[in-house]
Amino acid sequence: MNLEDTIYKRQSIRKYDNTPLSEETLDELRDFIDNAKVLNPGIAWSYDIAGPENFRMLQRFKAPHALLLFSQTKENYLQNIGFIFQQVDLYLQSRGIGSCWIGAGGPKNHENPNPDHEFVIMMIFGKPQGRIYRESTEFQRKIICEISDERDSKLIPARLAPSAANSQTWYFTHNDDGSYNLYRNRRKFNLNRKMDTWNQVDMGIVLAHLYVANPDTFEFTRDKPHEELKNKVFEGSFTI
Ligand SMILES: Cc1cc2nc3c(=O)[nH]c(=O)nc-3n(C[C@H](O)[C@H](O)[C@H](O)COP(=O)(O)O)c2cc1C
Repeated sequence: MNLEDTIYKRQSIRKYDNTPLSEETLDELRDFIDNAKVLNPGIAWSYDIAGPENFRMLQRFKAPHALLLFSQTKENYLQNIGFIFQQVDLYLQSRGIGSCWIGAGGPKNHENPNPDHEFVIMMIFGKPQGRIYRESTEFQRKIICEISDERDSKLIPARLAPSAANSQTWYFTHNDDGSYNLYRNRRKFNLNRKMDTWNQVDMGIVLAHLYVANPDTFEFTRDKPHEELKNKVFEGSFTI
């Protein structure tokens, strides 16, 4: 299956066969990551593929591998990591490999590959135990009118994007020149400070779905003049 079709079928996988994937499969994954599109080329980032001895998770499920993601902490680095590695989530699932973003986790007995980069977030992956894909009716998502100022079928790939605790804090507006603005809803009660970080990763994730669905026309900028919206943070403008 290609990456775009995977948008309509993927789901977070939390049950794995603990047999590690082959070295060849991991090398192909490294190759994909090296060629993924970045949102902000000015930010250096790095990753490691770790086995279970080198990552921890709050939840008790187990996985044979995790991608530990590190970055320079400048500008829109959280978006950038979300954007790059949501392409990886789609790549893995397109190949029948399960994956799940994990905010509540991190490296364990693991040396940071680059001291200038901070650990950001991780993604577990491996051969799924059970069904990998979901039916289109199984997506639990907001309707388009809740995430956009206009009903617009071009935003369906964005609507289906995964987000931390399925919070879907994205909001889209349409500009007269055909471009879009992306905003992040400010949370009323910030019970979990990490949620703010993860929601910024989510903004990159949702942009990745729009890029994968429109690879030839997708362009992103943070510099375009824009309207400020109440209780929303401007995240950038894009064309698709
Ligand atoms: C930034 C981010 C952090 C996440 N952290 C966790 C986590 O710590 N544990 C977990 O089980 N799922 C985690 N998830 C998965 C979400 O719960 C899941 O994507 C969301 O509920 C939508 O479900 P779906 O991915 O199956 O479509 C995370 C997802 C994102 C995007």
